[in-house]
Amino acid sequence: MAIQQILHTANFSKENITQLLSVSGNDERALFGYASRIKQQHVGNTVYLRGLIEFSNICEKNCYYCGIRHDNNDTHRYCLTDNEVLDAVRFAHENGFGSVAIQSGELSSDAFTRKIDFILKEAMRITNGEIGITLSCGEQSEEVYRRWFESGAQRYLLRIESSSEELYYKIHPKDEVHSFAKRLKALESLKKTGYQTGTGVMIGLPFQTAEHLANDLLFMKQFDIDMCGMGPYIEHAQTPLYANKSRLLPLAKRFNLSLKMVALLRILMPDINIAATTALQTFEKNGRERAIQIGANVLMPNITPKHYRDDYFLYENKPVSQQSNEDDLKFLEEQLKNIGHEIGYFGQGNSKHYRKNRS
Ligand code: 5AD
Ligand code: SF4
Repeated sequence: MAIQQILHTANFSKENITQLLSVSGNDERALFGYASRIKQQHVGNTVYLRGLIEFSNICEKNCYYCGIRHDNNDTHRYCLTDNEVLDAVRFAHENGFGSVAIQSGELSSDAFTRKIDFILKEAMRITNGEIGITLSCGEQSEEVYRRWFESGAQRYLLRIESSSEELYYKIHPKDEVHSFAKRLKALESLKKTGYQTGTGVMIGLPFQTAEHLANDLLFMKQFDIDMCGMGPYIEHAQTPLYANKSRLLPLAKRFNLSLKMVALLRILMPDINIAATTALQTFEKNGRERAIQIGANVLMPNITPKHYRDDYFLYENKPVSQQSNEDDLKFLEEQLKNIGHEIGYFGQGNSKHYRKNRS
């Protein structure tokens, strides 16, 4: 079917999405233009901030793609102190970020559960309950999810990484700890607990086809997610998946495919929150802004204390801001203004999709 016709009739079957993922030139411009209009209609030109706090790079898991996987002995492990996290929360609150995202490797210990719990309660206390908090601390039991929810986390991001079970086990060990079924169950638990639930996938993985990606988009729609964070897969030399480097699309293509995924998700789910992720910046300095133009509406500036940032090394060439946090914000504001967007200062920027469905 012609691209214009697919867009005009809004016929987003798996076959049509697969086709849209491979468009270029004028067709690609038509796709991006359409997504951009849908975005404008449903979430406008406001971009919400989540101050990203990379809380700890200690992880029990061994995902084949990830630089901070348990078995990578070349990583210097760290965990922020409570005060370091709370200082970052305070910084975000005072500077109008509205929300923070606390991200870490996956740990299932009681000590970890309690530490996060304490941080959540304190973050709520020192900001008079005003700060929005997204957690991204991996798979946990429903009980832990509930405890953290009650302590103040309203949103949770747990990427499915790939919705194809077959591909999932090509990028994770096939064992109890890395079970695809457990990942799905964890996502269900998050939704049931009441979180604004987010997921996402990596784009341009070895063995991944356009059909996989089309299914990923349909999975997100069917699961009825509230938010999404997705970006290109970027190889890391100290990981097992690196052996498949020769199978990868050039980074430019992975980046372009990621933009199309963002645009298509915006079309399929007009009122969810979509983050322009850090990985999008790896290929192009203004990669995140490009994603904002065609569908994303959330930015996650890194506010982790600077001396830890090099250790949260998920993939190669991860951009590490050389500027101070304040400069970063001014710079972002300027960049966004250039593309007709503004920052939603002091707004939590909750998912409209969630509010519509549950309130
Ligand atoms: N390339 C891109 N994204 C990665 N992540 C981990 N390793 C990589 C990589 N090599 C992403 C995963 C994970 C999040 C913590 O970072 O999607 O969910
Ligand atoms: Fe750990 Fe997440 Fe990296 Fe997997 S992707 S090794 S769970 S930090």
